[in-house]
Amino acid sequence: MAAKSGGLTTEQKYEKYVNTSFVKKIQPVVVDTAKGTWITAADGKRYLDCFAGISVVNAGHCNEEVVSAAKAQMDKVVHMCSYVYYNEPMADLAEKFAEITPGRLQKSFFSNSGAEAIEGAMRLARQFTKKTGFLALEGSFHGRTNATLSVTGNSARKKGGGPYMAGVYFAPTPYCYRCPFNTTPDKCQRECATAVERILLLHSWKDVAAFIAEPVQGEGGIVAPPEDYFKIVKEILDKEGILFICDEVQSGFGRTGKMFAIEHYGVEPDILTSAKGIADGFPLACFIARPDVADSFTPGDHLSTFGGNPISCAASLANIEVFEKTKLAEQSAKKGEFVMAKLRELADKHPLIGDVRGKGLMVGIELVKDRKTKEPAAAEAGKVQDLMRDAGVLIGVGGTYGNVIRFQPPLIISEDELTQAVEALGKALSQAV
Ligand SMILES: Cc1ncc(COP(=O)(O)O)c(C=O)c1O
Repeated sequence: MAAKSGGLTTEQKYEKYVNTSFVKKIQPVVVDTAKGTWITAADGKRYLDCFAGISVVNAGHCNEEVVSAAKAQMDKVVHMCSYVYYNEPMADLAEKFAEITPGRLQKSFFSNSGAEAIEGAMRLARQFTKKTGFLALEGSFHGRTNATLSVTGNSARKKGGGPYMAGVYFAPTPYCYRCPFNTTPDKCQRECATAVERILLLHSWKDVAAFIAEPVQGEGGIVAPPEDYFKIVKEILDKEGILFICDEVQSGFGRTGKMFAIEHYGVEPDILTSAKGIADGFPLACFIARPDVADSFTPGDHLSTFGGNPISCAASLANIEVFEKTKLAEQSAKKGEFVMAKLRELADKHPLIGDVRGKGLMVGIELVKDRKTKEPAAAEAGKVQDLMRDAGVLIGVGGTYGNVIRFQPPLIISEDELTQAVEALGKALSQAV
């Protein structure tokens, strides 16, 4: 299992020299190579990857077209700082991004990580509105820098990292399986939107620059609000002159069956952030805004040394070409329906499954000890993850209560592989109770 090099194994080097903290225990898989939907470990064992490096390699591991575009760029130039000198791949990518993102979004700023893109978007919103506060959603996740943790609505992620920014307000999320208003999805979305209005009126100081939200919450447990929620909220925001920062870091790039998840809701964001699937694994992120919003940055305001790196931009352009050529977002929609039907059949047999939900291949399976009380089954979710891994299938676990199986494979996954993953899940669910 452990790759040997020098005196210590890879696992021992991690233990001794790597500062890891996210998971209690790193998954015991020493990744050696990866191709498409499959990982090969250093001990030769193969795994079907149904988590895609946390929802990143949407076009598959080491996609040939993406890798060869990156290699070709590497032979030309690796780095020159794209905000001081012109960088052709970044210019081409910015043009393409304006074409594939919804509405009037047009001017991009490229950075390296999702959190960094969101920090930039928050700063831009402040400069445009001349206000400083933010309204975010309960259960949300936006990154691990101070500003992005400030707008993250999950105390487990924020522990020990404060003090956080003042002027951040949280509204309830229409998480209909655990409805904050104990009502139907239609009423839930209206109650949650009304709460936005009430918070702005009663709790804020009229200081809110932007509402920041994921169209489908990822880390929060694959929570997709009902279809009218964002429309109702956007009307409220527009009345108040508040921008909508749409965090598509996880839900973008075909993950939900559309290029960007907000397209399911027919709403035009003022700023949109993207990362993860943007370059099929090459480090790149972006926030894109309407020109009037984007132009509120003035010389000297924003820069990133590595941001818009030519290799990552070339990879991203090739990735978008793959999306267009193979209709990857549509594939995600179809495969999502296929797997969701299979998971619903599984739910009939396994009382541990409380809810199956999601859009496209952004799928959550919420485990509960009891369907009536909905007591979260977090330990069982961890066990299922371990059992599936031992059976050769990698999945994620998340959610506010740590009880949601996250099924987010590369979008190129085949129906046979989806069937294989669901069968492995069925076996693991039987063994986990
Ligand atoms: C919705 C969302 N926003 C922001 C981030 C932060 O991205 P990064 O880890 O690239 O900083 C994540 C990461 O999981 C995310 O899911």
